[in-house]
Amino acid sequence: MTLECDWVKRKFAIIGHKAPSSGNLSLNDLTGLSGRMDVLVRAINAALFISHGIRKNSQIILHLMGGNERPRRVMFDGNTLTGVRSDERSIAGHIKSLLKLRLPPIGHWEEVSTGVFHSSGGILETVTEWENDDVNISILDIDGRNLNNNNFNLNNRSMGFILSDDSPFTINEISILSKFKKIKLGDTWLQGHSCITIVHHIIDSNIIS
Ligand SMILES: C[S@@+](CC[C@H](N)C(=O)[O-])C[C@H]1O[C@@H](n2cnc3c(N)ncnc32)[C@H](O)[C@@H]1O
Repeated sequence: MTLECDWVKRKFAIIGHKAPSSGNLSLNDLTGLSGRMDVLVRAINAALFISHGIRKNSQIILHLMGGNERPRRVMFDGNTLTGVRSDERSIAGHIKSLLKLRLPPIGHWEEVSTGVFHSSGGILETVTEWENDDVNISILDIDGRNLNNNNFNLNNRSMGFILSDDSPFTINEISILSKFKKIKLGDTWLQGHSCITIVHHIIDSNIIS
């Protein structure tokens, strides 16, 4: 089925404050020892997987800020992604193997398997790259404004959404993100992956245009 706004590219960035950027990842304890990697894995699932396939028009960047090493960014790009199943363990397995690899320098996205890339840097680098690509950036935050035609314009061919994990944005992140508009998806704190599903639904169904 082709959805009405299939052509709007959706980019998601989620910040994993405790998720380790390097080393060993315990697939048997994604919630505890792995720094809420379960939250990030569910976000990948919501961003990319539909019932029978992968959303070609969506990508997600995980920001792994935990552990003692430099932060790492991991991008799953639905446009080319293959070889990843939608179950949490399979997705986490891909991240586990990647954490053993040397960090590429900032500015260089190294492809580790088809549609899966990694790089150094944090949210500052992501928003800088998105700005260079003319992405319309929004922060998902309960303190934001309700969605309306001014802040959710589907004439943009590329829309970027930034969300946090189970922790609030840090002071440093708030300062980096302060120049972007904040939008809320209702007055109740939701889980990140639910927010991603709602964003897809709003764009797919052209509820606000
Ligand atoms: C589980 S919530 C984080 C809750 C955390 N206790 C906090 O204070 O930020 C995960 C993320 O989903 C997004 N989110 C959750 N509910 C939202 C809402 N109603 N509107 C907009 N974004 C929301 C935000 O980006 C939030 O950081």
